[in-house]
Parts: sequence; structure tokens; C-alpha cells
Amino acid sequence: MTEALDEICAQAKVIPVIVIERLEDAVPLGRALVEGGLPILEVTLRSDCALEAIAAMREALPEASVGAGTVITVEQYKQVEALGVDFVVTPGATPALLDYAVTSGSPVLPGIATISELMLGMEYGLRRFKFFPAESSGGAAAIKSFGGPIPQVRFCPTGGIGLANAGDYLKLPNVMCVGGSWVTPKALIDAKDWAGITKLAREAVERFA
Ligand code: 3PG
Repeated sequence: MTEALDEICAQAKVIPVIVIERLEDAVPLGRALVEGGLPILEVTLRSDCALEAIAAMREALPEASVGAGTVITVEQYKQVEALGVDFVVTPGATPALLDYAVTSGSPVLPGIATISELMLGMEYGLRRFKFFPAESSGGAAAIKSFGGPIPQVRFCPTGGIGLANAGDYLKLPNVMCVGGSWVTPKALIDAKDWAGITKLAREAVERFA
């Protein structure tokens, strides 16, 4: 589990958080991000066509690591696992989800915001977590503090992160990458401005390489 997540997260410092409202946008958006140097794609289950979007991206973009985000039930976990997703992101960590996740071939990055949630996840053998919602849960200072008693865990913070503050997180030894929707703004997706998305991705890659 930890090795699989480390291998995925080693590919980029930024994981775009993606909401696909129109299935036709899935592949061009994914391609634009990959072209800009961001090959880890977190497609959230926040839209009706999310599962189809994940399937389409996996088929058309074999060079990308396509994961599912906003997975909040075991049923959803099973659905995305059946699609062969490379990873699963959950906003929080319930015992039911963790019970299932540790039996699954699709590695989980569970969301935690407190040290007790982190310790619960560790009891399941997990060592990689999403820190969410990052900015409103203490930001980089909180992750730095987690590293005191629990230095062996690494995080992907998301929630309120953008070009201006991502560096505060990425300079911490216990942060492997950050997630965010700033590279996938709705206005550019609605306008099908794929070159604009590639530009945002490239900007993030150049800043945080
Ligand atoms: C997530 O699901 O990780 C967050 O919604 C992303 O947060 P952001 O939109 O503030 O980047």
C-alpha cells in the first residue's frame, strides 16, 4: 500500500483535483494536464458522469495515474476498484471505509484532519494520508506538528491550496505532494480551454519541481 502510493506520488508534486461535468471533457482535460507535466489525476465522484470519466481517462491515457476522489462509501470504493483505479482518495476516514480499503487492490489515501484520525489510520497499517481540509485545519503548521510525534507518516494536503501557498507545504519533509483544484478551474473547463489548463499545469511543475 505505502510503496504503491509512493510510486504514484513520486511522479509529480501536484495532484489536480478534477470535477467532470461533461463526459466529453474527461479525456481532453486529462491529456492537457499530462502534457503540462501533471500525470496524477484525481477524478472526484461529485458529478453524475464521474465513473464513466474515470473509465475513459484510464483507457485513453495509459501514461497517467488515474484515481478516484471523494469516495465516502464502501459501495463507491467497490465501484472505482472495479474500474481498476490506481488510487482512491477519501475526504475522511471511517472504520467501515478503512476496513474495506486495507483488503483492496486499489491503494487508499484516506483524509484525516486530526492526530486521533491519523492514529486510527495507523492502526490499520496505513502510513500515507490526505490532510483535509488543509488550510482550515491548521495548514502547513499542523502537518509540521504531526511530524514531531509521528515522523514516519507522509501527507498529501488538499483544500485551499494554490500556487501561492503550495510551497509552504512542499518544503516539509513529511509532505510528498499537494492536491488542488487551482489547476482545473471550472471556467477553463467550461470554455474547453485545454491550452490554458496545460499552461497552469506547467506553471505548477516549474514552480515546484
Ligand atoms: C479536495 O477534494 O481535495 C478539495 O476539494 C480540493 O480543494 P480545493 O478545491 O480547495 O483545491
